[in-house]
Amino acid sequence: MLTPHLQRDADGSLRYERLPLATIAERFGTPSYVYSRAAISENYRAYRDAFARAAPLICYAVKANSTLGVLALLAAEGAGFDIVSGGELQRVIAAGGDPARTIFSGVGKRRDEIELALAHGIRCFNVESEAELHRINEVALAHAIRARISFRINPDVDAKTHPYISTGLKSNKFGVAHADAVRLYTVAAAMRGIEVHGIECHIGSQITELSPYVDALRRLLALVDQLSARGIAVKHLDLGGGRGIRYQDETLVPMHQFAQAVEREMAGRALELVLEPGRSIVGDAGLLLTRVEYLKPGETKNFAIVDAAMNDLIRPTLYDAFHAVVPVVQRAEQAVCYDVVGPVCESGDWLAKARPLAIAQGDLLAVLCAGAYGMTMASNYNTRVRPCEVLIDGEHAHVIRERERFADLIAHERIVR
Ligand code: LLP
Repeated sequence: MLTPHLQRDADGSLRYERLPLATIAERFGTPSYVYSRAAISENYRAYRDAFARAAPLICYAVKANSTLGVLALLAAEGAGFDIVSGGELQRVIAAGGDPARTIFSGVGKRRDEIELALAHGIRCFNVESEAELHRINEVALAHAIRARISFRINPDVDAKTHPYISTGLKSNKFGVAHADAVRLYTVAAAMRGIEVHGIECHIGSQITELSPYVDALRRLLALVDQLSARGIAVKHLDLGGGRGIRYQDETLVPMHQFAQAVEREMAGRALELVLEPGRSIVGDAGLLLTRVEYLKPGETKNFAIVDAAMNDLIRPTLYDAFHAVVPVVQRAEQAVCYDVVGPVCESGDWLAKARPLAIAQGDLLAVLCAGAYGMTMASNYNTRVRPCEVLIDGEHAHVIRERERFADLIAHERIVR
């Protein structure tokens, strides 16, 4: 299975939009993250079009892929942003995004981050604890302004996804307890530095089903009614992100069904809808291009040792996540079963396990669906420079981030004599 705008030509070689992946590897080297501009735009527009009636504010979750070139393209499409740090806010601003269309999520906002966000006129803070509410109120009062807030409600629904990326259950660190919400809103409504604006939930990531969203939405709407009965008006409802993508053989609820269900639940209410999609905007719009350094046949297993590693794409080893791996040029030979591993000194350094591949030393491989939580989770472990990032736009390839150099890695280090 290939991803949008990735095609196999008649000669068996892969092309991304109008450029052969082999050409991209030759020009920019490997490992490289390669993104399709058309795929990113189409993913964004799929939300906009499916939700045309509700006309939501689509706040792209920056953590999924925060490279300026990606943010700028989404800002130009009209996206708002969901951030979780002062650093992400500065990225949004540097990319031409609008802080007034940006919401600030996360459990541990520092005072300086709150100040920065208020100074830039952030749209709303998603508050995740009572202590945080007090801090935001204090900072706002000190600057003689009012901060708009939503509470992130933990609706206690099971998103039926990987436990590491499920966030809507009571046992998670995220959000405020559903049972505590009315009390917290009452406290917030009485604060002079706070303007109650919305209600939010984010129940997890890589969600393929509809029912967890509908359950969470109903619980939030019931709260909105309870608040309104107490004279607290909520202006927007933020359903978070979490929509999954097809990594392997997942069946996803179609976008229009998702939109219809949400719009149906919200019908007749004067509530603005906000969404925070990350993975579903960029995930299937990018791949990791890597080269086979060595083939190492073994007694129990064969290894294909490639030049990308767990430091470049940590999802497989961290979540046991599946990413399809496809040869850039097809060979006629019989496929052999390989574990695709990197050069890092950890047994956990693998990208794929037990894959039938017809490959030789020096061949290029594309690791698919690596556009989300790929580069943003990359590290320099083993003093490996992080890959470059290339944005394909038709027949053009733009380097949107250069490959790091060794000098970048040691730039902030000092030797004590
Ligand atoms: N909003 C909030 C408050 C979030 O915490 C997240 C993701 C999103 C939106 C975007 O969720 P998405 O639409 O991308 O599912 N590193 C993991 C995923 C962690 C997600 C964290 N929060 C992975 O590689 O699967």
